[in-house]
Amino acid sequence: MYKLLFLLFENQHINISTLKERSYNLRWAEVEKGIIPLTAADLDFPCATPIIEAIKSYSNKGYFNYGPTEGMPILKESISSYFKRKRNVTIDPKNILPVDSAAFGIYLTCQSFLQPGDEAIIFDPVDFLFRYSIEKVGATAVSFSIPNISEIDFSMLETLITKKTKMICLCNPLNPTGKVFTKNELTQLAKIANKFDLIILSDEIWSDIIFEPYVFTSIASINEEINNRTIIVTGFSKSYGLAGLRIGAVLTKNNQLYTQLLLNADHQSTIHGINVISQVAASTALNECNDWLNQFLTHLQKMRDLCVEKINNINGFSCQAPQGCYVVFIDIKKTGLSSKEMHAYLLQEAKVSVVPGLQQWFGKGAEGFIRISFATSEAILTTALDNIHHSMSKL
Ligand SMILES: Cc1ncc(COP(=O)(O)O)c(C=O)c1O
Repeated sequence: MYKLLFLLFENQHINISTLKERSYNLRWAEVEKGIIPLTAADLDFPCATPIIEAIKSYSNKGYFNYGPTEGMPILKESISSYFKRKRNVTIDPKNILPVDSAAFGIYLTCQSFLQPGDEAIIFDPVDFLFRYSIEKVGATAVSFSIPNISEIDFSMLETLITKKTKMICLCNPLNPTGKVFTKNELTQLAKIANKFDLIILSDEIWSDIIFEPYVFTSIASINEEINNRTIIVTGFSKSYGLAGLRIGAVLTKNNQLYTQLLLNADHQSTIHGINVISQVAASTALNECNDWLNQFLTHLQKMRDLCVEKINNINGFSCQAPQGCYVVFIDIKKTGLSSKEMHAYLLQEAKVSVVPGLQQWFGKGAEGFIRISFATSEAILTTALDNIHHSMSKL
């Protein structure tokens, strides 16, 4: 069984022609033939077999009626039990709202708790979704710099707090640097949130993808006071390859905050809501795919080590080993090229597409970096990195 699962992450299981048809968001379907897209953090591997079987078995009955507006009980219970078992966070299923992606979970949280003119703190660099959602609801994103994965002193964050500050957006693990926040760091952050009466939006979509010896801690598990002011956003795109099913969840112990989220989600009016197939897939992922996930992690740990070794041997490139997430954030400052120029150069010369560290993707602190995803096979990754190595030696 172990061996069979392990083989799932070999090159032969990557179906490039299907990816060319279905994998968008700067990936296979959007790049020219011959280009390897190490861009959006999405898997090149198919999802776990139990998910495929569960979708088939649900569909076979041919009924696709309206589902419950607050989400299917099986999914709400599965998420609650997962958080209790794996995250030491107790949240009643009734306070868990499945939504149509982690991205929407972030937006919904901002829409529910920020007014025009309010301020919310985000990290820099961090995924663009935080700034985008804050600004979309008319609030202002205030950046706190976390340039690398070393221990953070959060006391400086207090200097950014004003009367307008309502929320701190925590991305743990942190995309794009792969930092996993320690219990000590989260305790400091929790103290600040309690002191200034702030809401914590804790995006934990990457929390399954943690490399040894690091350990994930949810800020909601620190103490009851912080649990009561935290909204956790989670998703199924990163751990289980279900990005196209658009499924995630928001959860909070606090009844008042939950009611506000529910109201803003507009599920009860049926204007919004998640399709039932995605909920079946997500509950199967949590209940039946733990072995698959563990084997995926074993593969990723190997790919991470391969990336770090190869990247640090490339002319002008350097990187720290990510503690979590399947992305590497590469410092390219020594090459003298901007991240935009490097993106163009690698596309042309190495036939590899990367994400440039542009302000629009990750904030100001990302300039001088590029990001690559390593959720692919050893063969594809080796070809891409060797091509980059060769191109950089000509520069
Ligand atoms: C930190 C973070 N949050 C949210 C998302 C979006 O996830 P979803 O596909 O569920 O919208 C991503 C995707 O890259 C991410 O990196």
